[in-house]
Amino acid sequence: MSALLSTVSLLLCLQGVPALDLFRVTRTPADAPIIPRVHCWCNSYPDTTLCSWPETSHEPHTHYITTYRERHGHPMTNNCLVIPPTPRSPSSGSSSSSDQEWLCQLSDLKLFTDYIINVTAVSPAGSSSFLSGLMMEDIVKPDPPVDVRVSLQNKRHLLVEWSPPSSWRDLEIFPLKYHIRYQWENRGSPKSVNLGPFESTSVELKGLSPGRQYQLQVCSRELMGLGSCSDWSSPVYITVPRTNL
Ligand SMILES: *[C@@H]1O[C@H](CO)[C@@H](O)[C@H](O)[C@H]1NC(C)=O
Repeated sequence: MSALLSTVSLLLCLQGVPALDLFRVTRTPADAPIIPRVHCWCNSYPDTTLCSWPETSHEPHTHYITTYRERHGHPMTNNCLVIPPTPRSPSSGSSSSSDQEWLCQLSDLKLFTDYIINVTAVSPAGSSSFLSGLMMEDIVKPDPPVDVRVSLQNKRHLLVEWSPPSSWRDLEIFPLKYHIRYQWENRGSPKSVNLGPFESTSVELKGLSPGRQYQLQVCSRELMGLGSCSDWSSPVYITVPRTNL
């Protein structure tokens, strides 16, 4: 058994998993559930940290025990409330077939504190744990801005406006900043320009080419630069009119 454990650890090291991540397989790999592929992020600093992992459809009798505790100091273990994926109704014909995710929310995390999260998949055949260190400040990632609008100001200027993600709770104490990406095609080759950061929720774009179609997206990031920018918002398109002067 210990030979198996060290083999697993060695393989994981070779694959470049951060040193902080520890894994343990408690049954033979053929029987035990697969180790959950857990991804954690903080979408509202410092309130809400979420962890998710994909549903494994071939292991229907698997349930999950999710706990977290401080890495140093306080030995108390907290339970993370696990929310199962919403069952897909067969009639809906939804195209997002691959996105069945388990979710759990960690509450009351302390600032600048190392935690260890343990997501254990349990099935009749055995259990497998995913263990990882996490610190909220490293994994801040807001949701994308919403309600992105673009309008023509005069013949050559565009006004881009958006709203902050509603999941980010405290814009007063922890403001967001934003980046804009606009893209177009020039004789078949894609061009892309990133602008920002902006602390406002609107920006005027100038110097655009008449007759050209632009695709605009916005992402949001914690003002001090913690973590990373959100995913890009869904694209909005506009064509700058040709001037007939
Ligand atoms: C992870 O959680 C499982 C289930 O609660 C537990 O059996 C296991 O000992 C935990 N692992 C560690 C390293 O704390």
